Amino acid sequence: MGALPKHVYFETYGCQMNVSDTELMRGVLGTAGYVETDDPAAADVLLVNTCAVRDHAEQRIVGRMGELKQHKRTGVVLGVVGCMAQRLGPRLLEQAPHVDLVVGPDGYRGLADLIACAVGGDRRADVTFRPWEHYEDVPPRRGPARAGAFVTVQRGCDYRCTFCVVPMTRGRERSRTLSDVLREVGDLAAAGVTEVTLLGQTVNSYHDGEHDFADLLRAAGAVDGIRRLRFTSPHPNDFTARVVAAMAEVPAVCEHVHLPVQSGSSAVLKRMGRRYDREGYLRCVERLRRAIPQLAITTDIIVGFPGETDDDYRATEGLVREVGFDDAFTFKYSPRDGTGALRLPGAVPDAAAQARLERLIAVVREVARRRNVGLVGGVHEVLVEGVARRGNLLQSRTRTNKVVLVAGLPEWIGTYRTVRLTGTTGSTFTGAPASAGRELAVVG
Ligand code: SAH
Ligand code: F3S
Repeated sequence: MGALPKHVYFETYGCQMNVSDTELMRGVLGTAGYVETDDPAAADVLLVNTCAVRDHAEQRIVGRMGELKQHKRTGVVLGVVGCMAQRLGPRLLEQAPHVDLVVGPDGYRGLADLIACAVGGDRRADVTFRPWEHYEDVPPRRGPARAGAFVTVQRGCDYRCTFCVVPMTRGRERSRTLSDVLREVGDLAAAGVTEVTLLGQTVNSYHDGEHDFADLLRAAGAVDGIRRLRFTSPHPNDFTARVVAAMAEVPAVCEHVHLPVQSGSSAVLKRMGRRYDREGYLRCVERLRRAIPQLAITTDIIVGFPGETDDDYRATEGLVREVGFDDAFTFKYSPRDGTGALRLPGAVPDAAAQARLERLIAVVREVARRRNVGLVGGVHEVLVEGVARRGNLLQSRTRTNKVVLVAGLPEWIGTYRTVRLTGTTGSTFTGAPASAGRELAVVG
């Protein structure tokens, strides 16, 4: 006993920041001597990194916790971490006797100690906000070598969108210093990473007291070896002229932006507390497109927000067509405890919200298909990311974030290739190698 390393099993739900936080927890527990396992039955510690953004996400996690319970031999610890842990705190320990530990996004530094307590029967919840916490001295463990990596540059959120629980689960907005971010990006580049995605809840409001997001893009994009720079998610109001200019001028910054709109109705946007109206969003899109003509734009949309009328919904559909989004994540409004929208009148019946959601999904698909069909025949640089899920093809991605399946050799994984897009399902593409110089010969 004691000499054998303990095994930890992770399961991660929700956004990219949760993926990035799990990498931090791997670092914390790796330093404490834990070894990771992908078999829950072999684990001494099971940690579920959770999302609280919608009730549906929480219910899935509750169900999954019930399944993981079967792996609890004596001494095995089952922990809930992340946003749902933060939201429910000690209540979760009371309601779920099989849960041994509850830790919010600012408490990961203390994980090994909290696990030791739990092993001794002392079940604890740590949901203290630590506004200074950036885990600077915790080296994230990112798993098998990949060409791409997430780098969290900002934690928390100071917006108060009335539907959103994130400010309550992740606390106040704060940015890492530019020099800390650059050190991490430099280390990644030295380890062979060529594509970095900067993460923050409103990532373009990044400010470390001295440097803004434009400075960050310019500095990270200048790191030797970084060929692609992405970021998610920006807020429309934080696209200053400086940021747009940096996006256009830094060659590494990819021609894709995920720009959550939430609704196409100014009345709904106002009640959502988004701080822009329909015209403001469209102006932002226009400025971005003027600066970066090939820009692909994706978005998040909520339907069924309190007070949303048929006309409001139609305004959203109209906006999807007007902008011509490349893709969109669409959600049915989910009421969250403690958020401002709970006090709003005009709840939309579920059947109506569901019908709007289904219509909207069809519109998004149609708009995306039309755009994508227009791209077939074009030549793109892709980063080969891995083996595709089906068949013996490789999965790759353009700078505009389009997925392209290509026939190729396993040693292409992690490299950049030039491909011609040969077809599309409407959302993803097939491609064939095309070296820019031989292109005409290939076609001829
Ligand atoms: N600023 C964050 C947003 C996190 S939540 C970011 O951009 O990363 C991600 C998306 O979930 C939001 O853009 C919104 O479309 C959706 N969402 C958030 N709260 C929701 C709720 N209560 N009901 C339905 N969808 C919600
Ligand atoms: Fe949520 Fe709005 Fe912040 S969607 S994360 S409160 S910008």
